[in-house]
Amino acid sequence: MASAGSSSPFLDMSTGTSAGSPAPWQRAATGANLLSPNGDLGVTIFEEMTTLAMSTGSINLGQGFPDEDGPAEIKAAAQEAMASGANQYAPGKGVPALRDAIAAHQGRFYGLNPDPDTEVLVTTGATEAIAATLLALIQPGDEVLTFEPFYDSYGAIIGMAGAKHVTAPLLAPDFMPDLTALEDAFSSRTKVVLLNNPHNPTGAVFPELVLAKIVDLATKYQAIIVSDEVYEHLTFGVAHIPITSLPGAAERTITISSAGKTFSFTGWKIGWLTGPEHLVAAVRTVKQFLTYSSGTPFQSAIAVGLGLPDEFYTGIASTLRNKRDILAEGLRAAGFGVYNPSGTYFINVDTAPLGIRDSVDLARRLPGLVGVAAIPVPVFCHPEGAERTRSLLRFAFCKKTEVLEEAAGRLATLKDRL
Ligand SMILES: Cc1ncc(COP(=O)(O)O)c(C=O)c1O
Repeated sequence: MASAGSSSPFLDMSTGTSAGSPAPWQRAATGANLLSPNGDLGVTIFEEMTTLAMSTGSINLGQGFPDEDGPAEIKAAAQEAMASGANQYAPGKGVPALRDAIAAHQGRFYGLNPDPDTEVLVTTGATEAIAATLLALIQPGDEVLTFEPFYDSYGAIIGMAGAKHVTAPLLAPDFMPDLTALEDAFSSRTKVVLLNNPHNPTGAVFPELVLAKIVDLATKYQAIIVSDEVYEHLTFGVAHIPITSLPGAAERTITISSAGKTFSFTGWKIGWLTGPEHLVAAVRTVKQFLTYSSGTPFQSAIAVGLGLPDEFYTGIASTLRNKRDILAEGLRAAGFGVYNPSGTYFINVDTAPLGIRDSVDLARRLPGLVGVAAIPVPVFCHPEGAERTRSLLRFAFCKKTEVLEEAAGRLATLKDRL
C-alpha cells in the first residue's frame, strides 16, 4: 500500500521554527529527521542518540560510520597529492584520473562503459549527488517514489524541491516490496523512482525480479530511475545488481555511489554518479551552484582506491559479514528478533519478543540500561510506515570486532534490566 507524504510523528510544527511558522520546504518535507522527537529544529535523532551515547559512555551503534580508517595506500595517495600541490579547485566534473577510475570500475565489476568525460560526475559525497540529481530532475508537484523505510536525506531533499514523496513499504522479515503495492504507488505524476540498493536501513539487497519490475514501471510511467548504490560492495553472499545493467534501464537511470562506504573514508565526502549524457549534464548544471567541486587531493586518492585488486573488495565484504554475525549473535542472545541483512552495515531487530512495542522509547532507554546506542527505524518513515515499524531498531556493525563483542556482551544483560 502506498502512502503519500505528510508530517512525520516527530515533526511538531507548533514548535517549529524560531520565526513561528515553518519554511515551505519544512512544510513540504516528509523526512522524519528534520526535527527531533522533541520538535527542536535541527536536532536529529542521530544527534540525540550520539549525545546520549557520549554522556552515558555507551557504545554508539547508532550512526553508521566505521571506527577504523580505510587502506593505508589510499591515505598515502591523498598525502602525496597534497604534497605535490593538488590543493586548488578540482574541475567541476571531477579530477580526470578519478573519472577514468570510476568508468573503469563500472566496466570491471558490471560490464558497463560510461564515458568518463560526459557520463561521469564526481560529487561531494553521495549526499550531494542525491541533492543535485533531485533538484535537477523534479519540479514542485512532481511525485518521487521511494521505498519505506527510507534514508533520511531523501525526504528532506524531496521536500526542499517541493515535490510529493510517495512510498512503497518494505516488509519484514526480508524487507522486500509487495510488487502490487509497488505498482499502485506509481502514477502519471511519478517523475523519479529513487531506489536505494543495497538498502539502508533494512539491509535488503534487491533481486533481479524486483529491479526488473521497477524498470518496467518506470518505463511505463516515463519516470527516471535514480539508484543510490553506496553499499554496492558490502553484500554478504548475494550479488549486487546495478539496476542500470537491466534491459531498458540505462537510458533512464542515474547511478550514485560513494567512496565513504567502500573505502571507509566517510569524512572525505567523495561521491559520484554515472548515467546518460543528457541526465548527467542536467545534474552538473545544478551541482556547479552547490559546491562546484571539492576535495581535490582526496579525489586523486580515491582514483587509486578504485584500482585496488579484487582481494580488497572481497575482503571488505567478508570482514563485514563476520562483524554482522558477531552482533547478530549478541542481539539474539539479548532476546531480540533479528533480521539478518544481506548487505550494508546495518542490522534490524524486533523489540516485540522482549515485550517492548515502542523502539523510540527503547532507543532512549538503551544507553542507560546497557550502554549501547541504536536508532529506531520509525524515524526513517512517514506516520503509516512508523506504525508498521514501531518495534524495529537499527544497529550499525561497521565497528572493530572487539567493540562489537563488548556490545554483544552488554546487550546480553538487557533482559535482566528491563
Ligand atoms: C543510503 C545512503 N545514501 C547516501 C549516503 C551518504 O553518503 P555520503 O557520505 O557519501 O554523502 C548514506 C550515508 O549513510 C547512505 O546510507
